[in-house]
Amino acid sequence: MKDLKFIAGQLRKPSGDFAPQIAEKMGIGNKPLYDLTLKSITFKDEDSILEIGFGSGTHFRELLSKANNLNLTGIDYSPEMTELATLNNKRYVESGQIELYTGNSNQLPFDDNSFNTLFCNMVIYFWENPEEHLNEIQRVLKPEGTFYTGMRTRRSMLDLPFTKYGFNLYTVTMWKEILISNGFKIAKVERKKDPAFDEFDKKVELESVCIAAKI
Ligand SMILES: C[S@@+](CC[C@H](N)C(=O)[O-])C[C@H]1O[C@@H](n2cnc3c(N)ncnc32)[C@H](O)[C@@H]1O
Repeated sequence: MKDLKFIAGQLRKPSGDFAPQIAEKMGIGNKPLYDLTLKSITFKDEDSILEIGFGSGTHFRELLSKANNLNLTGIDYSPEMTELATLNNKRYVESGQIELYTGNSNQLPFDDNSFNTLFCNMVIYFWENPEEHLNEIQRVLKPEGTFYTGMRTRRSMLDLPFTKYGFNLYTVTMWKEILISNGFKIAKVERKKDPAFDEFDKKVELESVCIAAKI
């Protein structure tokens, strides 16, 4: 088994030969959180949506089925993930319905007021200074837009031993306070326990959370 520090580093930024493997694992492991986030998001026909840190992008097809003529943009700072998600969604990328970029969410290459909806799942842990990412999110969201944070509760993430290597974990209250102190208003919080699974010789029970916030 790969060591825990290595796994944590790959989850932060998948890279090199191991990237496709970790991406596949994330795609399966984070499916319950995507189910919750996609259920929480209010989709309207023609909406422009941005996802930060999309990983393998295996969920894009389901997302596009949530309303008519959605436009989906994704940004991930791992070039390996941009390449993999492009391969996994070739048809939509070629038709222009999905646009994928490699870049950091603290410097989004998009105009002000571009998106109705912006979301990220399992990404906030890696933001050393959340304020600079939240400022960018506010800038590119339309005034009536919504930002959805998908995360697991701090308590449940502590069951995963690799999270002690460089993960900034938050309780729901802590993350809500960060959003509020950066000018967001909390609109809705949904939570759901994931199915339990065995990992590292113990039973892990993660709890998914999706926090909707308005500017
Ligand atoms: C733990 S993975 C989660 C992937 C996917 N969202 C999921 O839930 O399965 C974190 C992803 O976010 C990306 N990421 C982390 N910090 C980022 C940042 N500051 N800007 C853009 N992408 C980032 C990583 O490259 C990685 O693909």
